[in-house]
Amino acid sequence: MASGAERVITVLGIETSCDETAAAVVRSSGEVLSDVIESQVEAHAPYGGIVPELASRDHLQNVRPVIEAALARAGVSLAELDGISVTARPGLAGALHVGAQTALGLAFARDLPVVGVDHLVGHLCAAYLQYPEHPIEPPSLPFLALLVSGGHTALYRVDELAVQGIRELGATRDDAAGEAYDKVAKLLGLGYPGGPVIDRLAHEGDASRFELPRPMSRRDSLEFSFSGLKTNVARYVEQHGRPQDRSLPCDPCAAFQSRAVETPVRKSVTALERERLRTWATGGGVAANKGPRAAAQKAADAQGVRLVVPIVRACTDNAAMIALSGALRLLRGENHGLTLDVSPHTELPQTTRKGRGARS
Ligand code: KG4
Ligand code: ZN
Repeated sequence: MASGAERVITVLGIETSCDETAAAVVRSSGEVLSDVIESQVEAHAPYGGIVPELASRDHLQNVRPVIEAALARAGVSLAELDGISVTARPGLAGALHVGAQTALGLAFARDLPVVGVDHLVGHLCAAYLQYPEHPIEPPSLPFLALLVSGGHTALYRVDELAVQGIRELGATRDDAAGEAYDKVAKLLGLGYPGGPVIDRLAHEGDASRFELPRPMSRRDSLEFSFSGLKTNVARYVEQHGRPQDRSLPCDPCAAFQSRAVETPVRKSVTALERERLRTWATGGGVAANKGPRAAAQKAADAQGVRLVVPIVRACTDNAAMIALSGALRLLRGENHGLTLDVSPHTELPQTTRKGRGARS
């Protein structure tokens, strides 16, 4: 593990920040012993997006069986754990509370240390996870991280896998990349979530047959904007109606995906050059898609930099990344105990202000 951690500890991770109830048992070396994810996609799909109250209710129902399954699959008992890590921020407050209270209850019952971790730092730790079926060479520090998820889209310089070692270089001024996928899918009548279906249809479409502008294309800026893409698709639907034939949304999907991907990839290259970094990692739900993965790999090859993309289940929300992120904090002697609290905001300092751009 990049931190050079000497002692290896075993940690239970719990993730309930959004619409996945997840638990995992992971060693601080990155070894994943189990990784259980109960998705709520079906509960939210009829609403075309996440309904916070439904999310909290489902987490309450699922969190205990998911934890029991994670421990059973890992063959690890509560007595064999060295600590517990739970997503404490950012996310839906009610949903976060379910995970945090469960973690606190378990920690007190078993006299274990417990830490609340930042979900975004978790996504950046995903590149270090070692799944038995998919061992990877993790990124060497420092590296550039491109996070493209449903709630956040940003570029980070990572000097250390800890809040104080991560610097935001630029982020989205409006929607996150995944949010744009979901909104465009809704406009085109493709259901929720948008990522997988748009990726699939994009491969059958021709991006050149559907005009879309390049958002935030200034080369010197490391900020993003995705809401204009959605507005353009909305205008198209207003004028032409929803595509009726199954084959018709392929061109808008191809055009949307190519625009949604090319700016983050191009800005990653600018950031790699500016920060003089030779290693690049991606993460977040959008990085689970084939189109973005291929575009990033092509750019990395052209630049001669090493790209690390976690396996698909490590890109989308999971508890293994939360367990590893927490393991590193526990190794540093942290224990949040009764001070563990949740927040809708990230702990990472932000340079881009939503709707207004970079802080000067
Ligand atoms: O990182 P993530 O799982 O959750 C957040 O932290 O936000 O990202 C979810 C986003 C959704 O907007 C979805 O459209 C997109 O990632 N996505 C996927 C997939 N590919 C892209 N969501 C689920 N499964 C995928 N295969
Ligand atoms: Zn996430």
